[in-house]
Amino acid sequence: MDREWADLIRTGVYHAFRSLGIEILEMAHFCSTPRFWEWWVQMKLGYGIRSPYSFAAKEGAGLLIPKGNLIYGETPLLTAYQLLDWSGVPPGSMVVDLSGGTGKFVFAANLFKDMKGTGVDILPSFARINQGIADAMGLTGVRFLCSDFLTTELWDGDLYYLSGTTFARETLEEASRWFAHVKSGAAILSLSTPISGDHLVLEGERVYSFSWGNGHVYLQKRK
Ligand SMILES: C[S@@+](CC[C@H](N)C(=O)[O-])C[C@H]1O[C@@H](n2cnc3c(N)ncnc32)[C@H](O)[C@@H]1O
Repeated sequence: MDREWADLIRTGVYHAFRSLGIEILEMAHFCSTPRFWEWWVQMKLGYGIRSPYSFAAKEGAGLLIPKGNLIYGETPLLTAYQLLDWSGVPPGSMVVDLSGGTGKFVFAANLFKDMKGTGVDILPSFARINQGIADAMGLTGVRFLCSDFLTTELWDGDLYYLSGTTFARETLEEASRWFAHVKSGAAILSLSTPISGDHLVLEGERVYSFSWGNGHVYLQKRK
């Protein structure tokens, strides 16, 4: 076996144990909340053995966006919950995840914080499966869209989440221009790098746990 294969196997084993550890922590944290178990079962039924890590290869091939933008990584449910706490946004608010994946940020906001939410992802399977889960649970306060957020008008958010760790520089610059349209006072949580621009104020930076390891998150406000 050459070194590349050995590294690949080591990374795979690390990720498998890390996801298992995260899932156990989440179960311990939310075990007394029946809605958590209902969501957990629906996630298992909805995604089945399909890995969100494989969607980009199947569905992203024809998309005219930088390929790095489609690299998958996940914000665990518990991290989403902690981020929502940190944001200080009150119950009843509207959260928008601009690169939503399996929708954990939006589900956490709705199930545990009594917020409404929209999750957007450019890959169709995410919107289809997440909306199926929301419908099966009777969640009327959330919706999932298949769309490029940069060309979608989502100006009703009180809190935006952008996990753009692997996004190209041009995409982050476009995102900065996009955020000029959101309402004054809206909060933005941006993973790995703050969004640039004079129209945004940086309020803080913290480290949280993600599927791949620890990452820096920046809290900003639209002036
Ligand atoms: C790193 S994943 C994050 C998923 C989720 N937000 C989380 O933290 O668990 C980034 C996601 O952004 C999506 N994406 C990339 N460019 C996008 C765009 N322009 N509009 C909407 N979604 C996009 C990808 O398909 C991918 O699922």
